[in-house]
Amino acid sequence: MDFEKMGFRRVKLAETPTPFEEAPRFSKAVGGPRIFLKRDDATGLALGGNKARKLELLMGEALELGVDTVITCGGPQSNHARMTAAAARKLGLHPVLVLDGDDPGKREGNLLLDHLLGAEIIFSGHRSSGDLLDEVKDMVIARGGKPYVIPLGGSNAFGALAYIECMEEIVGQCKSLGVLPKALYVASGSVGTLAGLIMGKVIFGAGLTIKGKAVSPGAEAKAQRTVQLMTEALSLLRSRVPSVGADLARLLNMSVESLSELVDIDDRQVGEGYAIPTEAGLEAIRLLARTEGVLTDPVYTGKALAGLVKDARDGLYSRDDAVIFLHTGGVPSDFAFHEILSRQ
Ligand SMILES: Cc1ncc(COP(=O)(O)O)c(C=O)c1O
Repeated sequence: MDFEKMGFRRVKLAETPTPFEEAPRFSKAVGGPRIFLKRDDATGLALGGNKARKLELLMGEALELGVDTVITCGGPQSNHARMTAAAARKLGLHPVLVLDGDDPGKREGNLLLDHLLGAEIIFSGHRSSGDLLDEVKDMVIARGGKPYVIPLGGSNAFGALAYIECMEEIVGQCKSLGVLPKALYVASGSVGTLAGLIMGKVIFGAGLTIKGKAVSPGAEAKAQRTVQLMTEALSLLRSRVPSVGADLARLLNMSVESLSELVDIDDRQVGEGYAIPTEAGLEAIRLLARTEGVLTDPVYTGKALAGLVKDARDGLYSRDDAVIFLHTGGVPSDFAFHEILSRQ
């Protein structure tokens, strides 16, 4: 996608296109279809992950507005917060992270990296970190700063648009390998990634089903949010792009109803809640690591991978079918889950 040509400022933060590789031993171990890994864990910004793509457009907007401080929020092990802090540092901006709960004292996993990046960390106590964003913004303004606020997970219209490009890469990579995948599995939280992938599917005519695997409860609310994000992204596109090609026009002309029909998200792999590891997720993490040498995490990618493993074992696909697992990163949080991960 030529975002610059469309009137967006974009900062180079991600190593793209990310690799696309087959995982034959993993596929054999689950008795399933051919499985391909799209390695967005390898985007390379402070250990990588899906947020690097979103931050390219979000930070572009921040620079356009001439800010000096970037504020975002998330859980104490937020990958998004860590990568936002790194992106801010790379661009000479001051990172402020509002994180859920009380200060755990120990600096582990992503929180350790936030500390190394010198982020200003504010714990939200009994309130949710997202609810504090306005107050923190006012605080930064009161001390003379110019803040830019990035919502939870970097999921707004800019963040969602950025993920269109991942689908463009996937379509090209599948074409060069002669593969026609049936489905793509992706961990979904604030659903910007899912929204972007679906828009990319429409633009680039990909025939696959995109299966969002929720990492926190509330599949229905997440489905609605996905549609809302797509709608906002399309309005943003319309406002910036004076004339569009046929591919983009197909997407821009879609009704809310037809966009909703493309959303497929379930919360069967969530378990007891966000950031609470599940047995199925832990098994999937070990299996991928021990068959392919690829690391995943218990909060996001392990749960999404468990969804793929279940579908493969349930016989949803034939051996000749192909499916994709979008690896969105998250491995730094493994170090904060060392007790449970070192059990077996
Ligand atoms: C490793 C990882 N995977 C997946 C996601 C989910 O992406 P989204 O919030 O766009 O649904 C996140 C979001 O924080 C993440 O950190």
